[in-house]
Amino acid sequence: MNSSELVEAISQLRKEKNAVIMAHYYQTGDIQDIADFIGDSLALAQQASKTDADIIVLCGVHFMGETAKIICPDKKVLVPDINAGCSLADSCPADEFEKFVKAHPDHTVISYVNTSAAVKALTDIVVTSTNAKKIVDQLPIDEKIIFGPDRNLGGYINSVTGRNMLLWDGACHVHEQFSAEAIIELKNTHKDAVVLAHPECKSVVLKLADVVGSTQALLNYAVKNPDKKYIVATESGILHEMRKRCPDTEFIPVPPEVSEGGVGCMCNECKYMRLNTMQKIYDCLLNETNEINVDPEVAAKAIIPIKRMLQMS
Ligand code: 13P
Ligand code: SF4
Repeated sequence: MNSSELVEAISQLRKEKNAVIMAHYYQTGDIQDIADFIGDSLALAQQASKTDADIIVLCGVHFMGETAKIICPDKKVLVPDINAGCSLADSCPADEFEKFVKAHPDHTVISYVNTSAAVKALTDIVVTSTNAKKIVDQLPIDEKIIFGPDRNLGGYINSVTGRNMLLWDGACHVHEQFSAEAIIELKNTHKDAVVLAHPECKSVVLKLADVVGSTQALLNYAVKNPDKKYIVATESGILHEMRKRCPDTEFIPVPPEVSEGGVGCMCNECKYMRLNTMQKIYDCLLNETNEINVDPEVAAKAIIPIKRMLQMS
């Protein structure tokens, strides 16, 4: 099938099967364009809690599919490529996290949504990068808190809330790669540009940013201020929606795209997110394969901190 036939075939199948296609902003443009709903990880979880579809095709990574399945246990949740993992979630194995939690029994456990269901089951409150500050701010100032697994997001939340949360030492392989040097170089060339950075970036990068926020927050800022020029330090998939919503605005990814047919390093692409393709969406919807299932005992524990997040955000 060529690409327009694939679009047509996916739309047909989605109607026949009462399926909804949800895509994270880090998916390729063609997937974002065919999705019924695009969003960051909080929005995808919120949308899953509202849908009346029988099948959710979650175009994102495995933990996002698990979160949707935990929220909607009666629905079939499919992920186009079952190997779409997350280096950040992998940096926090549940058995090691459990030891860490047990070693600090008087601490409230906050976990970023980028974790396995088993880690969520050890957690008191799940957060995303959109709501982490808002949720931490709702806890008493003297509350002892463990924050996992992203040390950069945790450090950033500590700095903006005045907390001293105990941080798990995990990170995302994409956001860790953005360097202060690359941003300084771009700032020197584009002196009038505003630097947008995701809080999963290292603190040296965040110090150079004018706006730090979740994927959704960075997009919202650009949409509200289309007359500026932007240096974007997050996964490059977000540029698709930024350019669609602000067609006359210049967005410069970190590291910059190589023009004139050159090949860029592409280190600002999440190799897991990019495993999903249009063909794989079609195949998984047709055959109802790559279904996400979560152990019911784990799911029964993991739903509690996810519901808390949805209430507090
Ligand atoms: P968001 O919460 O901004 O969607 O981030 C998810 C993610 O995987 C970032 O790398
Ligand atoms: Fe995980 Fe990083 Fe990919 Fe996000 S960009 S899904 S945190 S590996």
